[in-house]
Amino acid sequence: MFNIIIAENYDQVSSEAFKIMREVVRKEAPVLGLATGSSPVGLYKKMIADHNSNGTSYKNCITFNLDEYIGLPKNHEQSYWTFMHENLFDNIDIPEENIHIPAGDKEDEEKECVEYETALAAHVVDLQVLGIGSDGHIAFNEPGASFDSVTHIMELTEQTRRDNARFFDDDITQVPTHAITMGLASIMRARKIIVIATGANKADAVYGMIKGPKTTDCPASILQDHDDVTVILDPAAAARL
Ligand code: F6R
Repeated sequence: MFNIIIAENYDQVSSEAFKIMREVVRKEAPVLGLATGSSPVGLYKKMIADHNSNGTSYKNCITFNLDEYIGLPKNHEQSYWTFMHENLFDNIDIPEENIHIPAGDKEDEEKECVEYETALAAHVVDLQVLGIGSDGHIAFNEPGASFDSVTHIMELTEQTRRDNARFFDDDITQVPTHAITMGLASIMRARKIIVIATGANKADAVYGMIKGPKTTDCPASILQDHDDVTVILDPAAAARL
């Protein structure tokens, strides 16, 4: 079941996401599933502002990130580890040991998948934040990924690598070809999910997620089976609904 919110602009979209986040963060020991990319940046800014002005604490919070590029060292400027520290973690009071991000620079990435899934499975994510790819991916589960998948390695589609080239000097050859990602089944275990999408290039994927057939061609359509998903959109992303 989808609860759909269409907000006026990106700032309003981020405020709606923050309202949901704030309720969850007030719990005693919240477990957050977090995303990178452009979509959640406004939400993270609001979490930081709230931490600074109202003292909202993340000391007891545990986080699990969705994914990481394979082949980038942790401290690479475009690694998701760097992204999360710059855009959120370095600006709130979460202890480093409470943060989980899959490592994309291990010699044995299959082992890393198993270890990450084991750590994740020991928790229940209270709120999972998602963006959506223009090809309908969630996390880095690209079209064709199994609905039963747990943390795994995925080859990125050319469309995703093209979309993300903006972070790599607009040079697709610099964008990694593979990522380690939570699986679709891993994501579906979260108690509550929010999907943030803005801009016209997301309109088809948003339509596929909500109104399209449930198919691995649009991985986000698996969310039709979850009973607590709030989709927060701007008018451009909602244009086909
Ligand atoms: C990021 C992630 C991806 C992005 C998606 C949308 O951790 O898992 O699924 O959410 O590619 O990216 P943006 O928000 O940059 O449009």
